[in-house]
Amino acid sequence: MQLLDKIKNKQFTMAVFGLGRVGLPFSLIFAARNVKVIGVDVDATIVERLKKGITTIREAGIEELLKKVMSEQKFIVTVDAKGAVDEADVIVVTVGTPLTHDLRPDFSQLHQALEMISSRSISGKLIILRSTVPPRTTEEVVCKLLKERTGLEVGRDFYLTYCPERILEGRALEELETLPEIIGGVDSASSIIAAELFKIVNPKKRTIITSAKTAELAKLFSNIYRYVNFALANQFALIAEYYGADAYEIIKVANQDYKRANIPIPGPSGGPCLYKDGYMLNYTPFIDFIKSAWHLNESIPLHMVNRTKEKVGCLFGLKVALLGLAFKADVDDTRQSPAVKLLNALKAEGCEVAVHDPYIASAPIESVLSNADIVILAVNHSQFKDLTCQYIAKLAKPRALLVDCWGFFEPDNVRKAGMRYLGLGRG
Ligand SMILES: NC(=O)c1ccc[n+]([C@@H]2O[C@H](COP(=O)([O-])OP(=O)(O)OC[C@H]3O[C@@H](n4cnc5c(N)ncnc54)[C@H](O)[C@@H]3O)[C@@H](O)[C@H]2O)c1
Repeated sequence: MQLLDKIKNKQFTMAVFGLGRVGLPFSLIFAARNVKVIGVDVDATIVERLKKGITTIREAGIEELLKKVMSEQKFIVTVDAKGAVDEADVIVVTVGTPLTHDLRPDFSQLHQALEMISSRSISGKLIILRSTVPPRTTEEVVCKLLKERTGLEVGRDFYLTYCPERILEGRALEELETLPEIIGGVDSASSIIAAELFKIVNPKKRTIITSAKTAELAKLFSNIYRYVNFALANQFALIAEYYGADAYEIIKVANQDYKRANIPIPGPSGGPCLYKDGYMLNYTPFIDFIKSAWHLNESIPLHMVNRTKEKVGCLFGLKVALLGLAFKADVDDTRQSPAVKLLNALKAEGCEVAVHDPYIASAPIESVLSNADIVILAVNHSQFKDLTCQYIAKLAKPRALLVDCWGFFEPDNVRKAGMRYLGLGRG
């Protein structure tokens, strides 16, 4: 049976390389639709945990779904990459593509996955690259290597597409079903087969067929668009501080009933994707603007530490309660988190920092706030919206400084509760 028919009849096996934040939900959504999925990871600890039905990431509904598809034997996990390639008709690559310390894309995980895949027969198989990559990677790295190593022709002997992942962490399962799917085929046969595959997730799912290069750039442009907008909001915050104004009030006034303004609020911005994706374009001479956004966003944690120092003098020996460690609201992921950068900068100043994050194993909030000289709201987790100034003031030291990185607290309320106030974007 041809691959297209196998997919239409759901009589195929899928291998997913990489069982991280992207690969695990992706595997589970197909397994939940009766596709046999083999999850492959080089990290034996992840594989062993998943075998026991323990998820390695936090996502709404994921634990239950994992247990269900495992008990139905629709999802198996293994470190045996070669065996998985042999068995699979569709191979999806979701391995990490972080940056090196000198801000170059690190392709080592991708190269390793390609080595494993190309060492076996890929005849008649569809390969989907889903990791975020610099433009031209699918055609000039993946396709070239697969052709050279296997002697096979793309579009005839095997199929290849770039289909970027665009989910929001924390909403992966819901968004895998609902987001339109960009299908960047290396040729039209590959695109047609990949589009059919995604209909399994949701027959109403929109598919947008384009070239691999366009798909690679579309993924990068959408993340960079968000990231530079956050940087601009942070730039506005610094300008507001300079003028002794309130950035939240200014942005509210600017956006109100005015369709052409949609300015986001300022706040520490980062995370494993936004932090790095601009640097996937480091091969072009045109990314000064993107790099400026990166420098601005990356400077915010230290900016807040410096402003804190101006307010309290020497930080050495002070007790700091850090509320939040994740890279953004309502997730448990700390990769490239601005809050972690804040924590490290405070430790370097000699502060004694206690951390509470409702999504990460950490100390209870009462003990963290107890006797604190400085309380820093570093992450805009929903749970923190219920915190009141009175509650914080009762536990912290008298005249403690509340540093608000997200505009959660009204400065007057903080002062009325007997604390001092410092806010990003508030002069
Ligand atoms: N995290 C997100 O929400 C998100 C969203 C969109 C796109 N992306 C992109 O998707 C890709 C994956 O991101 P992630 O957050 O899932 O990364 P991750 O680090 O959570 O997961 C990657 C997994 O791949 C495994 N791995 C590494 N080499 C392997 C190999 N050769 N064979 C099999 N497994 C291997 C690792 O052990 C790890 O478990 C990245 O390119 C990222 O930029 C991520």
